[in-house]
Amino acid sequence: MAVSDVRGGRRKSDHMDLLKETVTSTSMSAIKNRIRLSSDELKALDLLRFNHGANPFPGDESVANAFRLGIDYYRNCVERVKFTGAQKVLDLGCGFGRWSPFLGEVNARVVALDRSQDGIRLGSNLCQDLGFDNIEFSAADVSALKNFKTEEYDLVWMWSFLQYVDRGFVLDQVGRILKPGGRFFVGNYGSAGLMVQHLIQGIKKSGTINDPLADWAKKALLNGDVGPGNPNYGTVERCEELCAFYGLKLIRAAPQGLIDLRNENGLSGTGSARKVYDHLDIAIEFVGEKPRDWALRDRRQTTVSEKNRSPVFFSKACDWGIRQFKSLYRKMNPDKT
Ligand SMILES: C[S@@+](CC[C@H](N)C(=O)[O-])C[C@H]1O[C@@H](n2cnc3c(N)ncnc32)[C@H](O)[C@@H]1O
Repeated sequence: MAVSDVRGGRRKSDHMDLLKETVTSTSMSAIKNRIRLSSDELKALDLLRFNHGANPFPGDESVANAFRLGIDYYRNCVERVKFTGAQKVLDLGCGFGRWSPFLGEVNARVVALDRSQDGIRLGSNLCQDLGFDNIEFSAADVSALKNFKTEEYDLVWMWSFLQYVDRGFVLDQVGRILKPGGRFFVGNYGSAGLMVQHLIQGIKKSGTINDPLADWAKKALLNGDVGPGNPNYGTVERCEELCAFYGLKLIRAAPQGLIDLRNENGLSGTGSARKVYDHLDIAIEFVGEKPRDWALRDRRQTTVSEKNRSPVFFSKACDWGIRQFKSLYRKMNPDKT
């Protein structure tokens, strides 16, 4: 590759120096200075401005002022799960790139992928405006992962994403594209508690057991999925089993916001999405690792669907949800019990 290659207005050689500096710098604050906005300015940032006034996710008010949680919230999340100092990071299902700048300021390179063209345009405009030249946005369906090189990434970040896709396919691909010892993070992952919440909300809202939301949640609790296909929500207790199923190693699973890998002895997170229905959290998070012997995993695991292979995978959570459902049903229909 010629040294005179130019990327984003910066000569490739300069770019490499910058990457090197990013990776080797011991001063986090020096790296963070690459974002030019202050916390207050970022908080006030109206993202719709970057999308010609149109909301790429109609109905999602969070886009209008996406950073209202404040710069420290994002930085703290990235740092507490130790997603820093890597060469190449994938922000999978990046949406409008909410996490990409915060991954980009503490890692050398970020690839951000989402199937939403508008989301990608918005994220790309935002990161350009912030002065990042190490973040590459790609509008593609997650199935494009199969074309990614094997063992190319150090870290894969998935925030509020895995529950919307075929997690078997995604976790298998994540295992393939991660370098040995590379880590992945699943944040804000829907838990069985979310299904119970939907169930209760649906019944309360419509006053009937035949409410569409309640019916959907009931099916999800019974089947372990929210649509046709593989199970796509989880519980803290089952994360180890889930990771092992795809040949991956669980490092830590906890209710959302509680993993802090900087402080192995304490869980000092914010618990942002914590709301508990009995023992089931609304959202959970987990960090895992690609073991060095990933290639030796049992290949049969990937050819038999998770649900068929492990029919009792979610049984504990489901049983509890169904008990809740039945008790609500009995309360609402005393004559039928
Ligand atoms: C709840 S949003 C989370 C976005 C982002 N991670 C964040 O935290 O702001 C879920 C994202 O998954 C994306 N998505 C869903 N299914 C997808 C698929 N099959 N391929 C690629 N992206 C997908 C959606 O477009 C959406 O942006």
